[in-house]
Amino acid sequence: MQLTNFLSAAALAATTFAQQYPIQPVYQFANSFSGLGYVNIENVAVRSTNNQLLLNFATGAIMAQINPDAANPQPEVLVNISSLYQGAPGSLTGIAEVSKDVYIVGAGRFQFGPQVPGGVAGVPGSFQIWSVDLNGPRAVANQVVAIPEANLLNGVAAVPTAPGVVLVADSALGSIFRVDTHAKTYERILSLDVFLPGGGNNFGINGIHLQGGNLYFTNSAQGIFGRVPFGPRGYPGGPAVRIASAPNGTYFDDFALTKNGDAYIATQENAISYVAAGSSQAQIIAGGGNSTTLAGPTSCVLRNGELFVVTAGVGGGPMGPVSGGVFKIAVGAAKKMAKRWFA
Ligand SMILES: *[C@@H]1O[C@H](CO)[C@@H](O)[C@H](O)[C@H]1NC(C)=O
Ligand SMILES: *[C@@H]1O[C@H](CO)[C@@H](O)[C@H](O)[C@H]1NC(C)=O
Ligand SMILES: *[C@@H]1O[C@H](CO)[C@@H](O)[C@H](O)[C@H]1NC(C)=O
Repeated sequence: MQLTNFLSAAALAATTFAQQYPIQPVYQFANSFSGLGYVNIENVAVRSTNNQLLLNFATGAIMAQINPDAANPQPEVLVNISSLYQGAPGSLTGIAEVSKDVYIVGAGRFQFGPQVPGGVAGVPGSFQIWSVDLNGPRAVANQVVAIPEANLLNGVAAVPTAPGVVLVADSALGSIFRVDTHAKTYERILSLDVFLPGGGNNFGINGIHLQGGNLYFTNSAQGIFGRVPFGPRGYPGGPAVRIASAPNGTYFDDFALTKNGDAYIATQENAISYVAAGSSQAQIIAGGGNSTTLAGPTSCVLRNGELFVVTAGVGGGPMGPVSGGVFKIAVGAAKKMAKRWFA
Protein backbone atom coordinates (compact mmCIF):
# COMPACT_ATOMS: atom_id res chain seq x y z
CA MET A 1 0.00 0.00 0.00
CA GLN A 2 1.24 3.41 -0.92
CA LEU A 3 -0.69 5.87 1.19
CA THR A 4 0.90 9.23 1.73
CA ASN A 5 1.28 10.37 5.33
CA PHE A 6 -1.23 13.10 4.66
CA LEU A 7 -3.92 10.69 3.51
CA SER A 8 -3.21 8.23 6.32
CA ALA A 9 -3.48 10.97 8.94
CA ALA A 10 -6.72 12.21 7.37
CA ALA A 11 -8.20 8.72 7.35
CA LEU A 12 -7.14 8.13 10.93
CA ALA A 13 -8.63 11.45 12.08
CA ALA A 14 -11.86 10.62 10.26
CA THR A 15 -12.16 7.23 11.93
CA THR A 16 -11.83 8.81 15.37
CA PHE A 17 -15.13 10.67 15.06
CA ALA A 18 -17.18 8.14 13.08
CA GLN A 19 -20.37 6.83 14.59
CA GLN A 20 -20.14 3.11 15.36
CA TYR A 21 -23.04 0.85 14.41
CA PRO A 22 -23.81 -2.45 16.11
CA ILE A 23 -23.34 -5.61 14.03
CA GLN A 24 -26.09 -8.22 14.33
CA PRO A 25 -25.36 -11.84 13.37
CA VAL A 26 -27.83 -13.34 10.86
CA TYR A 27 -26.20 -16.71 10.20
CA GLN A 28 -22.87 -18.37 10.99
CA PHE A 29 -21.91 -21.21 8.62
CA ALA A 30 -20.58 -24.44 10.05
CA ASN A 31 -17.14 -25.54 8.89
CA SER A 32 -18.70 -28.67 7.37
CA PHE A 33 -21.26 -26.84 5.21
CA SER A 34 -19.58 -26.72 1.79
CA GLY A 35 -17.79 -30.03 2.14
CA LEU A 36 -14.42 -28.26 2.00
CA GLY A 37 -13.54 -27.70 5.68
CA TYR A 38 -14.86 -24.17 5.95
CA VAL A 39 -17.06 -21.71 4.09
CA ASN A 40 -15.70 -18.55 2.47
CA ILE A 41 -18.55 -16.31 1.27
CA GLU A 42 -17.23 -14.15 -1.53
CA ASN A 43 -20.25 -12.11 -2.55
CA VAL A 44 -23.88 -11.25 -1.89
CA ALA A 45 -26.87 -9.86 -3.79
CA VAL A 46 -30.53 -9.25 -3.00
CA ARG A 47 -32.71 -11.64 -4.99
CA SER A 48 -35.18 -9.35 -6.76
CA THR A 49 -38.15 -11.74 -6.75
CA ASN A 50 -38.23 -12.64 -3.04
CA ASN A 51 -35.97 -10.12 -1.25
CA GLN A 52 -33.79 -12.93 0.15
CA LEU A 53 -29.99 -12.87 -0.02
CA LEU A 54 -28.02 -14.76 -2.66
CA LEU A 55 -24.59 -15.88 -1.46
CA ASN A 56 -21.69 -16.82 -3.74
CA PHE A 57 -19.08 -19.06 -2.12
CA ALA A 58 -15.37 -19.15 -2.90
CA THR A 59 -15.15 -22.56 -1.20
CA GLY A 60 -17.09 -24.53 -3.81
CA ALA A 61 -18.77 -22.84 -6.80
CA ILE A 62 -21.98 -22.69 -4.81
CA MET A 63 -24.84 -20.18 -4.86
CA ALA A 64 -27.02 -20.35 -1.77
CA GLN A 65 -30.04 -18.39 -0.65
CA ILE A 66 -30.92 -17.26 2.86
CA ASN A 67 -33.92 -15.39 4.23
CA PRO A 68 -32.58 -12.88 6.78
CA ASP A 69 -36.15 -12.07 7.90
CA ALA A 70 -36.84 -15.61 9.08
CA ALA A 71 -36.93 -16.25 12.82
CA ASN A 72 -34.22 -18.87 12.34
CA PRO A 73 -32.57 -18.20 8.94
CA GLN A 74 -31.32 -21.36 7.20
CA PRO A 75 -29.27 -21.37 4.00
CA GLU A 76 -30.49 -23.34 0.99
CA VAL A 77 -28.05 -24.38 -1.74
CA LEU A 78 -29.52 -23.33 -5.10
CA VAL A 79 -26.75 -24.66 -7.32
CA ASN A 80 -23.35 -26.29 -6.87
CA ILE A 81 -21.50 -25.68 -10.15
CA SER A 82 -18.47 -27.60 -8.81
CA SER A 83 -20.53 -30.80 -8.93
CA LEU A 84 -21.71 -30.42 -12.56
CA TYR A 85 -18.72 -32.04 -14.28
CA GLN A 86 -15.12 -33.07 -13.76
CA GLY A 87 -12.93 -29.95 -13.72
CA ALA A 88 -15.84 -27.54 -13.16
CA PRO A 89 -15.02 -24.22 -11.46
CA GLY A 90 -14.19 -24.41 -7.76
CA SER A 91 -15.25 -20.90 -6.72
CA LEU A 92 -17.78 -18.19 -7.49
CA THR A 93 -16.93 -14.48 -7.32
CA GLY A 94 -19.09 -11.49 -8.38
CA ILE A 95 -22.83 -11.52 -9.03
CA ALA A 96 -25.19 -9.23 -10.98
CA GLU A 97 -28.80 -9.63 -12.13
CA VAL A 98 -29.20 -9.16 -15.92
CA SER A 99 -32.89 -9.95 -16.34
CA LYS A 100 -35.65 -10.99 -13.95
CA ASP A 101 -34.15 -13.61 -11.61
CA VAL A 102 -31.23 -14.36 -13.95
CA TYR A 103 -27.83 -13.74 -12.35
CA ILE A 104 -24.43 -13.55 -14.02
CA VAL A 105 -21.53 -14.76 -11.87
CA GLY A 106 -17.77 -15.02 -12.15
CA ALA A 107 -16.40 -18.55 -11.68
CA GLY A 108 -12.92 -20.01 -11.56
CA ARG A 109 -10.23 -21.49 -9.38
CA PHE A 110 -8.10 -20.02 -6.61
CA GLN A 111 -4.84 -21.19 -5.09
CA PHE A 112 -4.41 -20.62 -1.37
CA GLY A 113 -1.66 -21.10 1.16
CA PRO A 114 1.80 -20.02 2.25
CA GLN A 115 3.38 -21.32 -0.99
CA VAL A 116 1.31 -18.79 -3.00
CA PRO A 117 2.90 -15.31 -3.09
CA GLY A 118 0.36 -13.05 -1.36
CA GLY A 119 -1.44 -16.03 0.22
CA VAL A 120 -4.25 -16.25 -2.35
CA ALA A 121 -4.28 -15.88 -6.12
CA GLY A 122 -6.45 -16.81 -9.07
CA VAL A 123 -5.44 -19.71 -11.31
CA PRO A 124 -4.74 -18.05 -14.69
CA GLY A 125 -6.86 -19.50 -17.48
CA SER A 126 -9.48 -21.00 -15.14
CA PHE A 127 -11.99 -18.14 -15.16
CA GLN A 128 -15.40 -18.19 -16.81
CA ILE A 129 -18.70 -16.33 -16.80
CA TRP A 130 -21.81 -18.33 -15.85
CA SER A 131 -25.50 -17.57 -15.70
CA VAL A 132 -27.79 -18.87 -12.95
CA ASP A 133 -31.47 -18.73 -13.90
CA LEU A 134 -33.73 -18.93 -10.85
CA ASN A 135 -37.07 -18.62 -12.71
CA GLY A 136 -37.95 -22.31 -12.77
CA PRO A 137 -38.57 -24.79 -9.96
CA ARG A 138 -34.81 -25.55 -9.92
CA ALA A 139 -31.88 -23.24 -10.56
CA VAL A 140 -30.36 -23.71 -14.03
CA ALA A 141 -26.65 -22.88 -14.34
CA ASN A 142 -24.90 -22.56 -17.70
CA GLN A 143 -21.48 -21.43 -18.77
CA VAL A 144 -21.89 -18.22 -20.80
CA VAL A 145 -18.30 -17.88 -21.95
CA ALA A 146 -14.81 -18.84 -20.81
CA ILE A 147 -12.23 -16.04 -20.68
CA PRO A 148 -8.93 -17.91 -20.96
CA GLU A 149 -6.77 -14.76 -20.73
CA ALA A 150 -8.38 -13.74 -17.42
CA ASN A 151 -6.31 -14.26 -14.26
CA LEU A 152 -8.76 -13.44 -11.46
CA LEU A 153 -12.31 -12.43 -12.36
CA ASN A 154 -13.90 -10.69 -9.41
CA GLY A 155 -16.64 -7.99 -9.30
CA VAL A 156 -19.48 -8.13 -11.84
CA ALA A 157 -21.74 -5.18 -12.71
CA ALA A 158 -24.77 -5.22 -14.99
CA VAL A 159 -25.21 -2.44 -17.58
CA PRO A 160 -28.98 -1.89 -17.36
CA THR A 161 -29.04 0.28 -20.50
CA ALA A 162 -27.43 -2.49 -22.58
CA PRO A 163 -29.52 -5.63 -22.04
CA GLY A 164 -27.43 -8.71 -21.28
CA VAL A 165 -24.17 -6.76 -20.96
CA VAL A 166 -22.03 -7.01 -17.83
CA LEU A 167 -18.68 -5.54 -16.85
CA VAL A 168 -16.27 -7.84 -15.02
CA ALA A 169 -13.20 -6.75 -13.05
CA ASP A 170 -9.98 -8.77 -13.31
CA SER A 171 -8.14 -8.17 -10.03
CA ALA A 172 -4.85 -9.59 -11.25
CA LEU A 173 -4.68 -8.07 -14.74
CA GLY A 174 -5.99 -4.71 -13.53
CA SER A 175 -8.57 -4.74 -16.31
CA ILE A 176 -12.26 -4.66 -17.07
CA PHE A 177 -13.86 -7.10 -19.47
CA ARG A 178 -17.15 -6.25 -21.16
CA VAL A 179 -19.21 -9.40 -21.64
CA ASP A 180 -22.27 -9.62 -23.88
CA THR A 181 -24.07 -12.55 -22.28
CA HIS A 182 -26.57 -12.81 -25.18
CA ALA A 183 -23.94 -12.93 -27.94
CA LYS A 184 -21.59 -14.90 -25.60
CA THR A 185 -18.68 -12.64 -26.50
CA TYR A 186 -16.24 -10.62 -24.43
CA GLU A 187 -13.64 -7.90 -24.90
CA ARG A 188 -11.01 -6.45 -22.60
CA ILE A 189 -12.03 -2.80 -22.70
CA LEU A 190 -10.03 -1.00 -20.03
CA SER A 191 -6.71 -1.48 -18.21
CA LEU A 192 -5.52 1.25 -15.83
CA ASP A 193 -2.73 1.73 -13.29
CA VAL A 194 -5.37 2.39 -10.60
CA PHE A 195 -6.78 -1.10 -11.28
CA LEU A 196 -3.45 -2.95 -10.81
CA PRO A 197 -2.54 -5.18 -7.84
CA GLY A 198 0.76 -4.69 -6.06
CA GLY A 199 2.74 -4.77 -2.85
CA GLY A 200 2.34 -8.54 -2.48
CA ASN A 201 -1.46 -8.38 -2.72
CA ASN A 202 -2.86 -10.07 -5.85
CA PHE A 203 -6.14 -8.18 -5.65
CA GLY A 204 -6.16 -4.88 -7.52
CA ILE A 205 -9.59 -3.80 -8.80
CA ASN A 206 -12.12 -5.77 -6.77
CA GLY A 207 -15.76 -4.64 -6.47
CA ILE A 208 -17.45 -2.68 -9.30
CA HIS A 209 -20.90 -1.05 -9.44
CA LEU A 210 -22.42 1.19 -12.14
CA GLN A 211 -24.46 4.18 -11.06
CA GLY A 212 -25.26 7.56 -12.59
CA GLY A 213 -22.88 7.23 -15.53
CA ASN A 214 -19.93 6.12 -13.41
CA LEU A 215 -18.37 2.77 -12.74
CA TYR A 216 -17.39 2.87 -9.06
CA PHE A 217 -14.59 0.52 -8.04
CA THR A 218 -12.36 -0.51 -5.19
CA ASN A 219 -8.71 -1.50 -5.52
CA SER A 220 -7.68 -3.70 -2.58
CA ALA A 221 -3.89 -3.61 -3.01
CA GLN A 222 -3.71 0.13 -3.62
CA GLY A 223 -6.37 1.07 -1.03
CA ILE A 224 -8.49 3.02 -3.51
CA PHE A 225 -12.20 3.74 -3.81
CA GLY A 226 -12.73 5.51 -7.13
CA ARG A 227 -14.81 5.91 -10.24
CA VAL A 228 -14.52 6.01 -14.02
CA PRO A 229 -17.17 7.55 -16.31
CA PHE A 230 -18.96 4.86 -18.36
CA GLY A 231 -21.42 5.33 -21.21
CA PRO A 232 -24.83 3.64 -21.55
CA ARG A 233 -23.50 0.85 -23.79
CA GLY A 234 -20.92 -0.15 -21.20
CA TYR A 235 -17.78 1.51 -22.56
CA PRO A 236 -15.50 3.90 -20.62
CA GLY A 237 -15.88 7.62 -21.28
CA GLY A 238 -13.16 9.46 -19.35
CA PRO A 239 -10.31 9.31 -16.84
CA ALA A 240 -10.47 7.55 -13.47
CA VAL A 241 -10.94 9.62 -10.30
CA ARG A 242 -9.72 8.58 -6.86
CA ILE A 243 -12.48 9.29 -4.34
CA ALA A 244 -11.09 8.01 -1.04
CA SER A 245 -8.28 5.90 0.42
CA ALA A 246 -8.62 2.88 2.68
CA PRO A 247 -7.97 3.64 6.38
CA ASN A 248 -4.38 2.82 7.32
CA GLY A 249 -3.70 -0.87 7.74
CA THR A 250 -6.92 -1.95 5.99
CA TYR A 251 -7.84 -2.89 2.45
CA PHE A 252 -11.08 -2.44 0.57
CA ASP A 253 -13.13 -5.33 -0.80
CA ASP A 254 -16.58 -5.12 -2.49
CA PHE A 255 -19.11 -2.43 -1.57
CA ALA A 256 -22.69 -1.15 -1.78
CA LEU A 257 -23.96 2.24 -2.97
CA THR A 258 -27.03 4.13 -1.82
CA LYS A 259 -29.15 5.93 -4.44
CA ASN A 260 -27.38 9.17 -3.37
CA GLY A 261 -23.94 7.67 -4.02
CA ASP A 262 -22.90 7.06 -0.41
CA ALA A 263 -20.70 3.95 -0.23
CA TYR A 264 -20.47 1.21 2.38
CA ILE A 265 -17.26 -0.72 1.77
CA ALA A 266 -16.35 -4.15 3.14
CA THR A 267 -12.94 -3.41 4.66
CA GLN A 268 -10.49 -6.20 5.46
CA GLU A 269 -9.66 -7.50 8.01
CA ASN A 270 -12.68 -6.73 10.19
CA ALA A 271 -14.58 -3.54 9.35
CA ILE A 272 -17.11 -1.63 7.26
CA SER A 273 -16.08 1.79 5.93
CA TYR A 274 -18.42 4.57 4.87
CA VAL A 275 -17.71 7.25 2.27
CA ALA A 276 -20.43 9.91 2.02
CA ALA A 277 -21.20 11.11 -1.52
CA GLY A 278 -18.94 14.07 -2.25
CA SER A 279 -16.55 13.22 0.59
CA SER A 280 -12.96 12.07 0.12
CA GLN A 281 -12.71 10.35 3.50
CA ALA A 282 -13.45 6.77 4.44
CA GLN A 283 -14.66 6.31 8.00
CA ILE A 284 -14.88 2.98 9.80
CA ILE A 285 -18.49 2.70 11.02
CA ALA A 286 -18.58 -0.91 12.22
CA GLY A 287 -15.95 -3.37 13.43
CA GLY A 288 -12.32 -2.26 13.18
CA GLY A 289 -9.82 -2.05 16.03
CA ASN A 290 -9.58 -5.42 17.76
CA SER A 291 -13.13 -6.44 16.86
CA THR A 292 -13.48 -10.08 15.83
CA THR A 293 -17.18 -9.97 14.85
CA LEU A 294 -16.58 -9.54 11.10
CA ALA A 295 -13.89 -12.08 10.15
CA GLY A 296 -12.84 -11.00 6.67
CA PRO A 297 -15.78 -8.96 5.29
CA THR A 298 -15.85 -9.51 1.52
CA SER A 299 -18.99 -7.73 0.35
CA CYS A 300 -22.20 -6.03 1.42
CA VAL A 301 -25.56 -5.09 0.01
CA LEU A 302 -28.27 -2.61 1.04
CA ARG A 303 -31.90 -3.59 1.47
CA ASN A 304 -34.44 -1.16 2.96
CA GLY A 305 -31.91 0.80 5.00
CA GLU A 306 -30.15 -2.31 6.29
CA LEU A 307 -26.67 -3.33 5.24
CA PHE A 308 -26.08 -7.07 4.91
CA VAL A 309 -22.43 -8.09 5.14
CA VAL A 310 -20.88 -11.43 4.19
CA THR A 311 -17.51 -12.66 5.40
CA ALA A 312 -14.77 -14.98 4.23
CA GLY A 313 -14.01 -16.36 7.67
CA VAL A 314 -10.50 -17.56 8.45
CA GLY A 315 -9.12 -20.46 6.41
CA GLY A 316 -6.06 -21.44 8.40
CA GLY A 317 -3.50 -20.25 10.93
CA PRO A 318 -3.88 -20.34 14.71
CA MET A 319 -7.37 -18.74 14.52
CA GLY A 320 -8.80 -20.99 11.79
CA PRO A 321 -10.68 -22.53 10.34
CA VAL A 322 -13.68 -20.33 11.10
CA SER A 323 -16.38 -20.19 8.44
CA GLY A 324 -17.87 -16.99 7.09
CA GLY A 325 -21.28 -15.68 8.05
CA VAL A 326 -23.99 -13.17 7.25
CA PHE A 327 -24.40 -10.03 9.37
CA LYS A 328 -26.82 -7.12 9.49
CA ILE A 329 -26.11 -3.45 10.26
CA ALA A 330 -29.08 -1.08 10.52
CA VAL A 331 -27.34 1.86 8.84
CA GLY A 332 -30.53 3.56 7.64
CA ALA A 333 -32.34 3.32 10.95
CA ALA A 334 -29.33 4.59 12.90
CA LYS A 335 -28.93 7.54 10.55
CA LYS A 336 -32.58 8.54 11.00
CA MET A 337 -32.14 8.29 14.75
CA ALA A 338 -29.04 10.48 14.64
CA LYS A 339 -30.95 13.09 12.66
CA ARG A 340 -33.78 13.07 15.18
CA TRP A 341 -31.32 13.60 18.04
CA PHE A 342 -29.05 16.17 16.52
CA ALA A 343 -31.10 18.08 13.94
C1 LIG B 1 0.05 3.27 9.15
O1 LIG B 1 0.42 1.92 9.34
C2 LIG B 1 1.81 1.69 9.26
C3 LIG B 1 2.03 0.18 9.32
O2 LIG B 1 1.23 -0.42 10.30
C4 LIG B 1 2.50 2.46 10.38
O3 LIG B 1 3.88 2.26 10.29
C5 LIG B 1 2.18 3.94 10.23
O4 LIG B 1 2.74 4.66 11.31
C6 LIG B 1 0.68 4.16 10.19
N1 LIG B 1 0.38 5.55 9.93
C7 LIG B 1 -0.48 6.25 10.65
C8 LIG B 1 -0.68 7.67 10.23
O5 LIG B 1 -1.09 5.77 11.58
C1 LIG C 1 -20.47 -29.31 -4.18
O1 LIG C 1 -19.88 -30.20 -5.11
C2 LIG C 1 -18.60 -30.65 -4.73
C3 LIG C 1 -18.03 -31.47 -5.89
O2 LIG C 1 -18.92 -32.48 -6.25
C4 LIG C 1 -18.73 -31.46 -3.45
O3 LIG C 1 -17.45 -31.89 -3.02
C5 LIG C 1 -19.34 -30.58 -2.35
O4 LIG C 1 -19.58 -31.35 -1.19
C6 LIG C 1 -20.66 -30.01 -2.84
N1 LIG C 1 -21.13 -29.07 -1.81
C7 LIG C 1 -22.43 -28.91 -1.50
C8 LIG C 1 -22.76 -27.96 -0.40
O5 LIG C 1 -23.32 -29.48 -2.09
C1 LIG D 1 -6.01 -4.25 20.81
O1 LIG D 1 -5.22 -5.30 21.31
C2 LIG D 1 -3.89 -4.92 21.60
C3 LIG D 1 -3.09 -6.16 21.95
O2 LIG D 1 -3.81 -6.99 22.82
C4 LIG D 1 -3.92 -3.88 22.73
O3 LIG D 1 -2.62 -3.46 23.02
C5 LIG D 1 -4.75 -2.68 22.28
O4 LIG D 1 -4.90 -1.75 23.32
C6 LIG D 1 -6.13 -3.11 21.81
N1 LIG D 1 -6.80 -1.98 21.20
C7 LIG D 1 -8.05 -1.65 21.48
C8 LIG D 1 -8.60 -0.48 20.74
O5 LIG D 1 -8.71 -2.23 22.30
